[in-house]
Amino acid sequence: MNDLGSHRVALVTGGGRGIGAAIAQVLVASGHRVAVCDIDGQSAEDRAATLNDTAGHDAAISVQADVVDRASVTAMLRTVNDRLGPVDILINNAGVISASPFLDLTETEWDRVVDVNLKGQFLCSQAVLPAMIEAGWGRIINIASDAAKTAEPLIAHYSASKFGVVGLTQSIALEFADRGITANAICPAITTTAMMQQLAGQLQRADSRLSEQEWRRAMVAEIPLGRPIAPEDVAAVAQFLASDAAAAVSGQAINVSGAHEMH
Ligand SMILES: NC(=O)c1ccc[n+]([C@@H]2O[C@H](COP(=O)([O-])OP(=O)(O)OC[C@H]3O[C@@H](n4cnc5c(N)ncnc54)[C@H](O)[C@@H]3O)[C@@H](O)[C@H]2O)c1
Repeated sequence: MNDLGSHRVALVTGGGRGIGAAIAQVLVASGHRVAVCDIDGQSAEDRAATLNDTAGHDAAISVQADVVDRASVTAMLRTVNDRLGPVDILINNAGVISASPFLDLTETEWDRVVDVNLKGQFLCSQAVLPAMIEAGWGRIINIASDAAKTAEPLIAHYSASKFGVVGLTQSIALEFADRGITANAICPAITTTAMMQQLAGQLQRADSRLSEQEWRRAMVAEIPLGRPIAPEDVAAVAQFLASDAAAAVSGQAINVSGAHEMH
């Protein structure tokens, strides 16, 4: 037990903003203590401060870490362990995107996107699992994408990384199914975050037949719901998957796509 309350310990990677920030918020609202990790240490710090202000008590801490770097992940886990205790709930959310015609896609950009989106989830999952096994309880929630189910042009590296996330999720779910540990992926369609803004600009540069605004409109037009996904839509599913009520849900890749993706 420590000074931050008695609920579970959650670690949210890429939690400084966007979807990760919304998930950190609902986990605090559920009574968990949350470590907000981000490569951008300032955004993690600001987010943790906001969470603590909103909660009215010390519910969150911040940790600067790069999920692609094993030494950084190990140091992050040490900090979280020392300050909050062993991680019960891991939200593998940190991710990056870029757009490029396939023939122009550089090896450097392939490696960057696949490393952050896929290797990062591998390293963080491997780092938290021993404590989950010992506890006989654990939740690993991997943020994938609708691009993990059906590919789109100009984002081959992103799509490949997210298809990989689903495979990683299924494999972890199977290996640890009988130890009280579940692993699931969430597959959001285009979501209103900085990444969405960034992607529209990158798509325009990769294919200038559409303006940035037209690209944004085209992405949203794909969603039968009639609006982009909100970070809170994704967070609500993460909140359920992190709960005791979701004990029998494992190995799934759950769409949050306003009926865009059906498989
Ligand atoms: N926005 C969308 O349309 C959308 C749709 C489907 C899936 N996703 C996925 O959701 C997740 C969150 O995306 P978002 O839209 O909130 O993006 P975002 O760019 O707003 O936030 C991503 C966060 O991850 C952090 N990050 C990046 N690289 C990191 C690293 N190496 N180590 C630690 N932190 C790192 C960033 O600093 C940032 O705070 C990503 O995995 C993304 O692929 C986003």
